[in-house]
Amino acid sequence: MKHRIASMPGDGIGPEIVAVTREVIDRTGDKHGFSMDWVDFPNGADHYLKTGETLTEGDIERLAGCEAILLGALGDPRVKPGILEKGVLLNLRFALDQYINLRPVKFFPGVEVPISTKGRENLSMYFVRENTEDFYVGLGNRFKGRDNRAKIHLKRKNYKMEFDIGVNVEGEEESAYQIGVITRGGARRVIKYAFELAVRKGKDKVTCVDKANVITEMYGLWRDVFNEVAAGYPKIQTDFAFVDAVAMTMVKNPERYSVLVTPNLFGDILTDLGAGIQGSLGLSPGGNINPEGVSMFEPIHGSAPKYAGKGIANPVATILAGQMMLENIGETKAAQDLESAVYSVLVERKVRTPDLGGTAKTRDIAKAVADKL
Ligand code: IPM
Ligand code: MN
Repeated sequence: MKHRIASMPGDGIGPEIVAVTREVIDRTGDKHGFSMDWVDFPNGADHYLKTGETLTEGDIERLAGCEAILLGALGDPRVKPGILEKGVLLNLRFALDQYINLRPVKFFPGVEVPISTKGRENLSMYFVRENTEDFYVGLGNRFKGRDNRAKIHLKRKNYKMEFDIGVNVEGEEESAYQIGVITRGGARRVIKYAFELAVRKGKDKVTCVDKANVITEMYGLWRDVFNEVAAGYPKIQTDFAFVDAVAMTMVKNPERYSVLVTPNLFGDILTDLGAGIQGSLGLSPGGNINPEGVSMFEPIHGSAPKYAGKGIANPVATILAGQMMLENIGETKAAQDLESAVYSVLVERKVRTPDLGGTAKTRDIAKAVADKL
C-alpha cells in the first residue's frame, strides 16, 4: 500500500521537525506494510521571498490530489506577520474546506505539568475547533474617517456570502473593525462532528463553548445550533460554558471536560492553554480535517524562528500530528503503535529536548521513537 502525502515543512523549525517526522513515519510504514510517496511543497518564507507567491491555485490543486498533508509551521521574521499565516495556512484551511480543527489535550506519561495531575492521570479532552468561520473570515478594514464598501466573499462549495457595510466613525483619527461570521450550516457540521467524535471515543459529554452573553448574535446562533444537534444525541450530556470560565476551569478542574466544541478564535486561544497545561507546546498536535476531503496535520506550535537550525526543537508534536494523519488515512494499527512508541520514550525520561528540561536534539528523539518501533 502506497500513500501519496504532501509534505510542507514551511518556516523556522518546520523543516527540522518535518524531516525527522517523515523518517519516523517511514519506519512505521516499514513495520506495518505501507509506504509513503512524499510530495514536496516548498511554500513558506523562502519561497515567498524568491517568487512573491504564498500559495497558488496550482499548489492547491496538487495538494487536493494528495491523500493528506503534513505541515510544519509558518511564519518568519523577514516577512510581515500575517502574510504567510494567512496566505498559506489559513488559505489552505479555507480552500480545502478543512472545517474541523481537532486538538486533543492529555497528560503525557513522564512529563511534568504546571497543575496537579493527582486523580486526573487519565485526563483526555478533545477540542473540536471550528476552522473556517468566526473572526477568521477576513472581513475587516482599517480606515480614516469613513469606510463604506467593505466586501468579502465567503465561499464554500455551494454558496457565497457577500456583505456591503457602511461604517462612519466621526472625530477619530483612525478606526478599525473586524467582523466575525457564523453560519447555521458552518456551525452544524462542526458541532455534529463533535457529537460523533464523542460517540466514537466513548465520551459522555459535549461542552458548548461560546460567549453568548455578550456576542449575542453570532454565538446565540451557535448555541441554538448546538441545542438542535444535541437533540439528536439523547445519550450524550450537554454542558454550556462561556469561554472565560472555560479558561479558568481548564486549570482548576480540567477533568470536567471531555469533548469541547468551540468557535474558531476561542478554540485557537484555549488550545494553547491546553498545550500549556500539558507541559509544553512541543507536545501538542492538531488536525485540520475535512471528513469528506483532504485533511492537514500540524503541530499546534509556531515556527519558533529563534530555535531554527539549532536542531533542538521538540519533534513530538509533529510526530503525533503524523500519528493523527495515519489514523486519518486508515492506518489505525500503525497509528496506535506510533503513539505507544512516543509514550515509551516520554515515560523513560531519558531522551528529551530542552523544552522538557533535557539536552537531547531533535534527531535523538526521532531515533528513540524509531528504536521503540
Ligand atoms: C494555530 C495558529 C494559527 C491560527 C495562525 C498561525 C494563523 O495560531 O494554528 O493555532 O490562528 O489558527
Ligand atoms: Mn494558535
